[in-house]
Amino acid sequence: MENTKRCAHSVTFILFLFFTAISASTGKNHQHFVLVHGSCLGAWSWYKLVPLLKSAGNMVTVIDLAASGINLVQARDVRSFSDYTQPLTDFMEDIPSHKRVILVGHSSGGAVISQAMEHFPEKVSVGVFLTAGMAGPSLNYSVIAQKTMSRVANVLDNKFTYGNGPNNPPTTFIFGPKFLSQVVFQYSPPEDAALATALVRPRPLVSAGGLVLSKAKYGSVNRVFIIAEEDKIVTEDVVNLMIEKNPPNKIYKVRSSDHMVMLSQPTQLFAHLLSIARDFS
Ligand SMILES: *[C@@H]1O[C@H](CO)[C@@H](O)[C@H](O)[C@H]1NC(C)=O
Repeated sequence: MENTKRCAHSVTFILFLFFTAISASTGKNHQHFVLVHGSCLGAWSWYKLVPLLKSAGNMVTVIDLAASGINLVQARDVRSFSDYTQPLTDFMEDIPSHKRVILVGHSSGGAVISQAMEHFPEKVSVGVFLTAGMAGPSLNYSVIAQKTMSRVANVLDNKFTYGNGPNNPPTTFIFGPKFLSQVVFQYSPPEDAALATALVRPRPLVSAGGLVLSKAKYGSVNRVFIIAEEDKIVTEDVVNLMIEKNPPNKIYKVRSSDHMVMLSQPTQLFAHLLSIARDFS
């Protein structure tokens, strides 16, 4: 076990040197990646990927959505999906009109980047759905959320809170430590599950169900989907439904990955992102 781990670390390091060398020698493909976290997570969830992308000469921006990571807004003050996504909207508005970014959305961050793709299609070279919700003109986020919520609601130590009283729908959701380590981070180093347990915040339950994604705007932007092979939350049935209803330009797969691709398999993910940057810039 220890030997396998050490070996995996050396391979990771050699790959890291390899990609750094390649990107330094070609001197191109430098892109601006904008990374958007999933429910209860924050910008911190990308800490392994950021130095890899930067080492290859890319610009990287990590977003904390409202009431996430170190964002100062409290969950009770997030009343709508637009409130929740405001930090990304502000960022997109500030991009000069001649510049384009690569948007990467993890998990429920898929809904967040698709809203940005609908509102700012000319500023996005490609939207990357990293084991994420991916709706479209013929499949909405209510349907996708229902299917994924059934894998997390009332399972193990996950919790809802009821800010509008016990007789109204729940207002926030948070992952419990057991669920995180057993179902979300099962292939990640235990240190990352421990970090997440300390950093997760309640996700305001604002729905992306009303999001309108048009063929003319959202549909005009390149899309790729990255499958996490051992993901227990965004499972194969949901992935297949999204891909069938709403085919992306390209599909990638990350082997031996849990839901936290950027923590369990950062080097595979890094390699895919470099190839996406080459294909869609
Ligand atoms: C989402 O799609 C389902 C199934 O087609 C439909 O019943 C539902 O009304 C839609 N929801 C919204 C908010 O558009």
